[in-house]
Amino acid sequence: MTTLLPDDRAISSSSSTSSGDWWRTAVIYQIYPRSFADSNADGIGDLGGIRSRLPYLAALGIDAVWLSPFYPSPLADGGYDITDHRDVDPRLGTLEDFDALLADAHRLGLRVIIDVVPNHTSEQHPWFLAALASPPGSPERERYIFRDGTGPDGSEPPSDWRSHFGGSAWQRTPDGQWYCHLFAREQPDLNWDNQQIRDHFIETLRFWADRGVDGFRVDVAHSLAKDLSHPLRSQPHLDSRLPLDGSDPLYDREEVHEIYRSWRTVFDEYDPPRMAVAETWHPTSSRTYLYARSDELGQVFDFSLLKAEWHPGQFRDVITRSITDHAGVDGGLTWVLSSHDVPRHATRYALPVGTDLDAWLSSNGTALVIDEETACRRARAATVMMLALPGSAYLYQGEELGLLEVADLPTDQLRDPVYERTGHRLKGRDGCRVPIPWTPEGGSFGFGDDGAWLPQPEWFGSCAVSVQDGRPESSLELYRQAIALRRELRAAGATGPGDADISFAWVDSGDPQVLRFARGDGWECIVNFSANPVPLHGEVLLRSDSRPGSLLAPDTAAWVRPV
Ligand code: NOJ
Ligand code: CA
Repeated sequence: MTTLLPDDRAISSSSSTSSGDWWRTAVIYQIYPRSFADSNADGIGDLGGIRSRLPYLAALGIDAVWLSPFYPSPLADGGYDITDHRDVDPRLGTLEDFDALLADAHRLGLRVIIDVVPNHTSEQHPWFLAALASPPGSPERERYIFRDGTGPDGSEPPSDWRSHFGGSAWQRTPDGQWYCHLFAREQPDLNWDNQQIRDHFIETLRFWADRGVDGFRVDVAHSLAKDLSHPLRSQPHLDSRLPLDGSDPLYDREEVHEIYRSWRTVFDEYDPPRMAVAETWHPTSSRTYLYARSDELGQVFDFSLLKAEWHPGQFRDVITRSITDHAGVDGGLTWVLSSHDVPRHATRYALPVGTDLDAWLSSNGTALVIDEETACRRARAATVMMLALPGSAYLYQGEELGLLEVADLPTDQLRDPVYERTGHRLKGRDGCRVPIPWTPEGGSFGFGDDGAWLPQPEWFGSCAVSVQDGRPESSLELYRQAIALRRELRAAGATGPGDADISFAWVDSGDPQVLRFARGDGWECIVNFSANPVPLHGEVLLRSDSRPGSLLAPDTAAWVRPV
C-alpha cells in the first residue's frame, strides 16, 4: 500500500487563515470508531486501530476524517449516549491516544472532525444521576426536561411527543415525574433554556479546538431549542407531516440559530477557524441550509441525495434543489450517500424503486435477493457522480470497498436500540456498522487479532482492503483514482470538479434516463440509468467501470472533456 504523501500536504497547527475554507470542497471520511480497526484484540475498534490505519486513509486521498463518538458511554445508542464530553472511553483509548492520533493525522495531511452531541446525554452522566437524586424543581433537574405527568394521578406522559426510536418520548422516574428523551430512554434530553448547558458546550468546543481538532459534526442540530412553555404543545407526528416553517415545538425552531451564532464566535477565535457541519434529519426544505450560514455552522448535511433511490429523476431533482437552496445562504454544499444510520447505498440501489427498506431488512434480505453486480455497478456510478459535484463529499467507512449492507445479522446479536424500542418491528442500523475487513483471513478479517463486536459475514473476506489493493478494477482503486483526479482537476483549473466555485449546469443528454452535467470549464459527468449503452464523446477522464471504449454501459458513470 502507498503510505506517504508529499510534504506539502502536511498540516501544521499554525496553518494560515487562507486554508480556512478547506472544508468547502473536501472529501471527508466518516469513521465509526468501534468498527474500524481494533488494536488490542478485544473485538472493539479503538483509537490505536484508527491511528495505525491513517496511512491507508491518507493514500485514499481524502482531506479529513470525521470520528463518530469515542467518548465514555454505556453504549445504549452506539456511543451517542455520553457520560463525559471531554474524555475518551477507556475501551477506545485515552486523551493521550487522541492527541497522538491527531498529531499523526495532521502530519499526514489529514484534518480531524469530531462529533459533538448536545441534544442529550447518557442516563449515566453525573448530571442525570444528580437530577434523579434531587427533588422536582431542583437546579439539578433544570438541566434536563422534567415534568409532572397528566391524568388524575400523573400516570400519563406530560405530552404526546414520540421518540425517534419508537414509543413515547417520556419516561417516568421512581418519584413520579417524567423526563423527555427524543431518542432512547437512556438518552435524556438536555434543557437548552438553561445557561449552564450553553456554557458547558461552549467550553467543550474550546476543549477540543484547543487540542487541535479541525471541526465538529453537530448531532441532531435542529432539536436543541424546544418550545417548553406550559402547557406543552402537541407534536403527534415525529417523522411525517412535520411543519416546515419553524413552527414545530421540537424541531428546527428559529431560536436554535442563535445557539450556532454563539458557537461561530468560538470557532472564529481559532486560526484557521474551526469548521462545523449540522446534522438534521428534519425533512429537507428551504430552511435546511440556514444552518450553513457563514455566521453559523458553515455546513449542513444535505441528506436528500442519500434519500434518493436509483432513479434519474430523483437524482436530478435533489441535485437541482440542493444547489439552488445552498446558493441562497452561501453556505457549504454537502453530499452524502451512506452513513452509520442508513443501509449501505450499494444495497439500496440494487432494490427496486419504492422498496420498503425496513421491511426488506426485517426479512433478513430474503424478501428480494439483490443482484450483487448491479449493486456494485450502481454504487460505483453514484460515487463517480457525487465526486464530480461541486462542494464537499462525505464518505462512510467501507463504502470504498463496495460493501453491501449485512442484512442477515441474527436478531440476538443486534445492538441498535431501535430493535427493542420498536417491539422488533425494525431491525435497526447494525447492518452498516459491522467491523470492516482489512484482510481475507484472520479471526475478524484483519479488523483485529480476534473476533468483532458484531458478527462479520463470510463474504466480507473477498471485499478486504488487501484483496482490492492494487487491483485496477477494484472499488478501492476506483475511489483512489476518482479522489486523486478530483484533487488534480481542482488544482489545475479554476472550476474543475470540486472547485470552490459552484459552477454547475445540466446539459441536455437527449435521454431522460441519462444525466449529464457540466462544470464551469467544460468538464462533464454523465450517468447512464438506462438499460442501453450510450456513446461517449470526447476525452474520457474517469469511468466507473473498467471497460475501455466509447460506450457508457448501463448503470455506469464517467467524467469526460468534450471535444
Ligand atoms: C444522529 C446519529 O447519527 C445517530 O446515530 C444517533 O442515534 C442520533 N443522532 C441520536 O444521537
Ligand atoms: Ca480494541
